[in-house]
Amino acid sequence: MKSRFYRPLSLACIVPDYFPDVALFVRNNGNYILYKNHDRKFTETDQLRLERTNTQFLYVRSGDMDVVTEYLEQNLDVLMARTDIDSGAKGTILYQTAANYVTDVFDAPEKTADLIRCRSLIRQLMKYVSGHEDALKALQSITSQNYYIFTHSVQVAALMMLAHERLFRLTHDEMIDVGVGSLLHDVGLVFLSGNLLDSPEALSAIEYHKVKQHAQKGYEYLHEAGTLGEVSLTIVRHHHERYDGGGYPAALKGDDIPRSAQLAALCDTFCAMTTDRPKHTALPGAEAIRIMEDEVGGFFSPDLFYRFAAVVAGKKATA
Ligand SMILES: [Fe+2]
Repeated sequence: MKSRFYRPLSLACIVPDYFPDVALFVRNNGNYILYKNHDRKFTETDQLRLERTNTQFLYVRSGDMDVVTEYLEQNLDVLMARTDIDSGAKGTILYQTAANYVTDVFDAPEKTADLIRCRSLIRQLMKYVSGHEDALKALQSITSQNYYIFTHSVQVAALMMLAHERLFRLTHDEMIDVGVGSLLHDVGLVFLSGNLLDSPEALSAIEYHKVKQHAQKGYEYLHEAGTLGEVSLTIVRHHHERYDGGGYPAALKGDDIPRSAQLAALCDTFCAMTTDRPKHTALPGAEAIRIMEDEVGGFFSPDLFYRFAAVVAGKKATA
């Protein structure tokens, strides 16, 4: 991962006067060009200029990412409460902060032991998805093809919390556990190959069926670490089970598959299908649901599938 020299950062996260003094780059034809050096403040004029040219992402050196991640996490409460930042930009800031966290954890899995960090992000994410009607739309805002896995994890976590909130009555702590497990559901990928994640291109092209061990490996690592709750661990371990018993790692069948893991499979598939990836153009939500419907009884429980479909269609659904 160290070979990835630059990391993308949504423009919405670079708030004038708040942003730390790190160098920022723009990408042009695959080259990274210095936009501003670390000794110059990012100003409102910069922001307006970049907005005018429809710049969505700037880049920071990966060595500066610690500072940026810390700044975002520490200022999240303040940024979310600011009235001069609109709801869509708040979503972008939040998703980007969570994606940075996932990136950080993939670089150094032992950081999963710091559950306070993860829980506080999930709490913010939960507040956002339950308080914003357009939360699902904003989920797309941080999509950056080269870093698919990190943003995908955040999208799955947000959709999992939205679906659990709409469909079931969970306690606050159970919701946090669902979010934590969802955010870390693919962390086992990091243990599969030393260089699998080194190249952004390879990372984005990962085919999940070739890396089946990631569910069990992620579970074993996090179980051993001993910090995650049962619901979180269940999501990490069983998010690739199939309703007909053809999934992995345990080939659980029907409702032997824990409900949170069944919903994770639905969210994982839906988020993957509705996001742009290399060689895969994002489908509209309704089209993804239509295709997924063919897998009812195979991949998915009929009952849960239709309730999930109602959630993503924005219809009211209750337990
Ligand atoms: Fe997975």
